Amino acid sequence: MAKKLKATCQSPANIAFIKYWGKKNEKLRIPQNNSISMNLSNIYTITTVEFSEDYPKDSFELRNEPVSEKEKKRVFEHLDRIRKKAGIAYKARVVSINNFPKSTGLSSSSSGFSALTLAACLAAGLNLSKREMSKLTRQASGSACRSIADGFVEWQAGNNDKTSYAYSLFSSDYWKIYDVVVIVSKEKKQVSSTRGHALAKTSPFLKKRLEKMEKKIKDLKNHFKNRDFSAFGELSEKEALNMHAVMITSSPSLLYWTTGTLNLMKLIQQWRKKGLEVYFTINTGQDIHILTLEKNLKRLTRKLKSLKFVKKIIVNKPTLGTREIKKHLF
Ligand code: PMV
Repeated sequence: MAKKLKATCQSPANIAFIKYWGKKNEKLRIPQNNSISMNLSNIYTITTVEFSEDYPKDSFELRNEPVSEKEKKRVFEHLDRIRKKAGIAYKARVVSINNFPKSTGLSSSSSGFSALTLAACLAAGLNLSKREMSKLTRQASGSACRSIADGFVEWQAGNNDKTSYAYSLFSSDYWKIYDVVVIVSKEKKQVSSTRGHALAKTSPFLKKRLEKMEKKIKDLKNHFKNRDFSAFGELSEKEALNMHAVMITSSPSLLYWTTGTLNLMKLIQQWRKKGLEVYFTINTGQDIHILTLEKNLKRLTRKLKSLKFVKKIIVNKPTLGTREIKKHLF
């Protein structure tokens, strides 16, 4: 009988409070600065990988969504990295499912490539530490290296392949921060984050942003230590705007927001003035992540549901990183 090697993993997307934007090394995906994130409990990818001598070539299928040739190539190149490490030559069948729409700024690459990396490594019999797994994942997608570790995570920028990896700062039960994701449109983004990172250096503000980064990271860690939600929220919202200032002032300019995004950003700031403690953060897309505490959830979701342009709300808590599950997709 043909030898079959198969594994399935589930992995969360993550939201960065301190963002990664711009790289020191494009190919190895070494970022300009450290970043800090939280894994999201209700936005995830499940991936099954099977290597087999029966497969004449690699295949990748994303249930419910079409996949471009470019996206397939990125998956197959990552399989090559893993095959090389494991010393196997078999081709693979990869099937994934996202419980959310991809390419709208919900970080499908973070959940997708972390699930792929762990599933492919386990299927290939590669037993790596979390640190090594994070480094390997980083080569396929930067933000994905943060989804490997549990809870609240820091990605140490480092300078080369060996020193650039993510690790857990706090476990998922350390602080019950909620991230309410608001989908304002299902439009796909026009410029991928991979291309966007390369444009960061064309902004006159990137240098200034990086100069202040060390202090910002130190401050965020202190807010975590003190569980100071107001200071944490203020800093996170300012940091998102800071990154978007670099995006907007790049050449060509990257403006990911839609009218729905902007409407909601303004509403969030108004609600806050009226005593509802909510802050926003946004990635490369139009959808908004609202950071809040449990006591504000009911009031917030009631308000969001009354808005016509809100298509969907996904409530997230901090959660574990990438993990193996027993139920295969095929
Ligand atoms: O890992 P990428 O290439 O999808 O880039 C992620 C960029 C941001 O989401 C905007 C910031 C971040 O740190 O997640």
